[in-house]
Amino acid sequence: MKAIRFDRFGGPRELQLVDMPDPVPGDGEILIEVHAVSVVPGDCKLRNGDLVDHFPVTPPKVPGRDGAGIVRGVGGGVAGFSPGDRVCFTCQHVDQGSYAELACRPVAEVVAMPERLDFVEAAAVMHAGVCAHIAIVGTAGVKTGDRVLVHAAAGAIGGMAVQLCRHLGAEVTGTCSARNADHVRALGADRVIAYDVEDFTVAAGEQDVVLDLLGGNVHARSRTVLRPGGMLVWLIALPFGKEDDGRDVVVRQAIIKDNPEILSAVVALAEEGHLRPLISRVLPLEEAAQAHRIVEAGENTRGRLVLDVRRSSA
Ligand SMILES: NC(=O)c1ccc[n+]([C@@H]2O[C@H](COP(=O)([O-])OP(=O)(O)OC[C@H]3O[C@@H](n4cnc5c(N)ncnc54)[C@H](OP(=O)(O)O)[C@@H]3O)[C@@H](O)[C@H]2O)c1
Repeated sequence: MKAIRFDRFGGPRELQLVDMPDPVPGDGEILIEVHAVSVVPGDCKLRNGDLVDHFPVTPPKVPGRDGAGIVRGVGGGVAGFSPGDRVCFTCQHVDQGSYAELACRPVAEVVAMPERLDFVEAAAVMHAGVCAHIAIVGTAGVKTGDRVLVHAAAGAIGGMAVQLCRHLGAEVTGTCSARNADHVRALGADRVIAYDVEDFTVAAGEQDVVLDLLGGNVHARSRTVLRPGGMLVWLIALPFGKEDDGRDVVVRQAIIKDNPEILSAVVALAEEGHLRPLISRVLPLEEAAQAHRIVEAGENTRGRLVLDVRRSSA
């Protein structure tokens, strides 16, 4: 099979298109012909070697945290999936990833694809939807009437979080650049704060929950907009200063651990139309290095950059 691999940590040019042996599904595994994969910021950080303290990865490594495709084979003990099924899946950073024509995944990380979506759309929903679900539902427990501030609402996870909050009946405010204000409103935000125009600590008013997808300075300042007892949920590993401002707020990390229940919940929300796939652009697999340059330059916005594995740039 063809795959994108880096053989040492470094910049995007380390991503090379290579031939690799076809994987063979072991017991409890599913062999998937991959059609689409989303490029997530973590793929770039992993390739740079920035995440070795979190994920013990040793190159050579095929990146890729999720995908969508067609079942081509099943290992022993697998029930519920057959060759020809359309599925979407997640991959762990420590495993061989999905920037490849074929991937083997344990059955617990595979779920039937929403019928209304195509492969590119299904890939775009997977990791972003799972992260948003874990943060908003599993960690913050957002409920009807809650006031929720979602930072980076024009990003892939933020965009999913806005839709999820809207579906749950929360009052959602999103932060993004002014050029993306209409996009975030269209996702269901009641209010938008353009970070290049306004200071959210002044404009946001009191919130029950803040979702921090930016870290650093935004993290520390987010504490100031929470009501007493409110919750700051974060999933960015940037360091932030000592939290000794005396405020009565709960600060909780959203731990991103995929499981079959969350995968199924995300797919069901997508099937029902509550989670719309957000796709910024689509590139062929062989342009993975260019995809990483775009993501690292901060030029990706309004959703996932997706690699179409079956499309050639030739
Ligand atoms: N720790 C974990 O387990 C974990 C898991 C998943 C993701 N993450 C991290 O979570 C972060 C978000 O991921 P993602 O995939 O959603 O990223 P993304 O799609 O690349 O998000 C980028 C967005 O950030 C917005 N942004 C930049 N500066 C901003 C500011 N000052 N205020 C508001 N918005 C701002 C941009 O908005 P504009 O385009 O409008 O400028 C852009 O749309 C990443 O850093 C990722 O690595 C961590």
